Amino acid sequence: MNKLLLEVNDLGVVYRGRGRRKDKVALDGVSVAIGAGETLGLVGESGSGKSTLGGCVLGLVRPEHGSITFDGRDITRLAARDRRTLSTQIQAVFQDPYSSFNPHRTIEQTVSETLTNLPRMSRQDRRTRVVAMLERVGLDGSALERFPAQFSGGQRQRIAIARALLPEPRLVVCDESVSALDLSVQAQVLNLLLELQADSGVTYLFITHDLSVVRHMSTRVAVLEHGHLVEEGGAREVTDHPTHPYTRKLIAASPGSDAEVQEARRETRRAMARLEAGGTDADVHALHALEIQAVIEALAEPLSGATGGFARVLNEFTHEPVALDKLVRLRAAILDLAPRTSAAMTSEVVNRRVADARERLCRSLAENDRALHFAAQCREILVAIDSRQRERAVSVVASFDDTRVAEHRATTGRP
Ligand SMILES: Nc1ncnc2c1ncn2[C@@H]1O[C@H](COP(=O)(O)OP(=O)(O)O)[C@@H](O)[C@H]1O
Ligand SMILES: [Mg+2]
Repeated sequence: MNKLLLEVNDLGVVYRGRGRRKDKVALDGVSVAIGAGETLGLVGESGSGKSTLGGCVLGLVRPEHGSITFDGRDITRLAARDRRTLSTQIQAVFQDPYSSFNPHRTIEQTVSETLTNLPRMSRQDRRTRVVAMLERVGLDGSALERFPAQFSGGQRQRIAIARALLPEPRLVVCDESVSALDLSVQAQVLNLLLELQADSGVTYLFITHDLSVVRHMSTRVAVLEHGHLVEEGGAREVTDHPTHPYTRKLIAASPGSDAEVQEARRETRRAMARLEAGGTDADVHALHALEIQAVIEALAEPLSGATGGFARVLNEFTHEPVALDKLVRLRAAILDLAPRTSAAMTSEVVNRRVADARERLCRSLAENDRALHFAAQCREILVAIDSRQRERAVSVVASFDDTRVAEHRATTGRP
């Protein structure tokens, strides 16, 4: 980790109930830290306390106990004047900038609000700086005289980012900053945030309920559940190998960026649910769904860390002649890829049944006459994946079904 910029230590927040409402413990003993120029992704379900933590850092929520240190200085309970001075160094981008924009103020007035706590500058200097910032986020000078309502959601979020970054803050708290945007716009705004970070070295506390976003953005990830920190670590570690069941549940529920991947995951979840309910060939169907999901995900993101096991085997195949034991490993790798997402949410019993079924299939494959046919199919998948022919690869996986159901019946003796 770089030199620490923000340290949150043993933070506790209680919202006091009024009248008959009970007190609500929103954060309990939470400690996280962010290195300068890095991004900490803070994730958890709605109500887990993410915004409360962001609010404490921004001085909007008063903690019951614990401390917040910014650049070596204790900022837990600052007087209002010191807070205002600090606001040029700690800024925020919220989910819906529309509600934090005054509809009657022009974009120039709105964006330059964050300069008010800096030494006075001439009107012309200020305008030059605002225009440069607007251009940096992809808008031009013609925006200055217009009003928030004249912009789309994505543009308004760009304006909010311009406003936050204008005073050159060291830390920006992004609280669900892209959650209200369409997926394609979301990706553009996320990339903008990454570019701005690369340019300026700004640090982000990146709050989101969406784990698929966090992996893309973060150096480290912290997971909150009901006000408790349940997991914290490198972004890849946590998203690829979550140790806490709650994190696995979040990953299973997180939408992919690809409609086909999502549909494959939904189908897998349905198949896994059938498996959980029992039924004869349910595990074969679940495996089938997992294979399709794995192939689609491998095609969506062929050589990334998430598909590391698969990619490794794939590489071996594309460089060497195909041997049966490698095909068996390929199948295991395909099956290995999918459970990390969809099956993560299911019970251990179901996962064990999938693992057993997989082992049986691999074993029967090694002894089976149909191995040659399967070898040809695997080669077809490899070629399709290599040339990014998604439909072809998926259709080959789909054609596994008949032979596999037969294999399965032969090995289990089930009708
Ligand atoms: N001002 C408040 N008064 C009382 N309870 C609150 C207040 N703000 C949040 N809460 C409660 O504290 C918990 C954490 O809320 P929040 O930090 O907004 O969660 P998140 O951002 O993860 O959705 C929730 O149960 C929420 O209902
Ligand atoms: Mg929130």
